[in-house]
Amino acid sequence: MTIHPAFDADRWLSAVSDRRSRRAYDGRPVAGSDLDAIAATAGEFRPFDDARVVLVRDVPAAFFTGLIGSYGKVTGAPSALVFIADGSSATNAEHCGYTGEGVVLEANALGLETCWISGSFSRSTVTAAMSLEPGEVVRAISPVGHAVVRPTVTENLLYGAGRPKHRRELDEIAPGSAEWPAWAVAGVAAARVAPSAMNRQPWRFRTEDGAVVIAASGPSIPLASVRLDCGIAMLHFELGARSEGCDGAWESLTGRDVARWVPLD
Ligand SMILES: Cc1cc2nc3c(=O)[nH]c(=O)nc-3n(C[C@H](O)[C@H](O)[C@H](O)COP(=O)(O)O)c2cc1C
Repeated sequence: MTIHPAFDADRWLSAVSDRRSRRAYDGRPVAGSDLDAIAATAGEFRPFDDARVVLVRDVPAAFFTGLIGSYGKVTGAPSALVFIADGSSATNAEHCGYTGEGVVLEANALGLETCWISGSFSRSTVTAAMSLEPGEVVRAISPVGHAVVRPTVTENLLYGAGRPKHRRELDEIAPGSAEWPAWAVAGVAAARVAPSAMNRQPWRFRTEDGAVVIAASGPSIPLASVRLDCGIAMLHFELGARSEGCDGAWESLTGRDVARWVPLD
């Protein structure tokens, strides 16, 4: 088995389809036992040495900024996750996405809500609040809490909260996948609903010598940003593949090819 001991496959997969990015929270604190569970996952799920997640139990409102002024700002979140990576490592962005999404899905599995935020947060405020090692950077954060029951007008207008996810067709992100083995189809189906910045879904999958390669698409988007999104999709892909009994491991690739999932014989 190559699975990381803290990779909670069934539990995280169960959270994949219901997860929605939510930005309006009701201010209620998260139960201490839930925060302990998230902190435990963040502490234990460290499959790579160039990425980690920190739980901030009492998050200052100043962590979150708006898109324009206060418009589009995360509100009322009691807690947050901070996604940290070693900026000097070539693989840090996808490893940050992969590691972070495991903790995000753990929070969702606990019945809490989240939202990856790489744009509308105060990088200087968050960085100052963290104890970063030399070379480490904050790539993104996420609120953690109880979202307001009905999405606010802003959430609905800006992000379509509560509506079905708009996603690219499977055949666009994984051309020819109807002919792939069941584990690979389950993998791309789970990756398809992964969150991505501005819902770009900048990932494409192809098969190669019995493995599945995830590559970055969207040449105009900075590669580190795309590789962060791809790391999130990698975690989803692995959840789907494992649900069909496929044990395997990721191999890192360079450039626009991000990584390759290699099934074990
Ligand atoms: C890496 C990353 C960065 C994101 N940054 C922001 C952000 O700065 N502000 C925001 O409101 N949403 C942000 N999002 C949330 C996306 O808009 C959201 O995931 C996407 O629209 C798909 O919606 P869903 O998560 O509900 O499926 C980000 C998502 C990811 C994965």
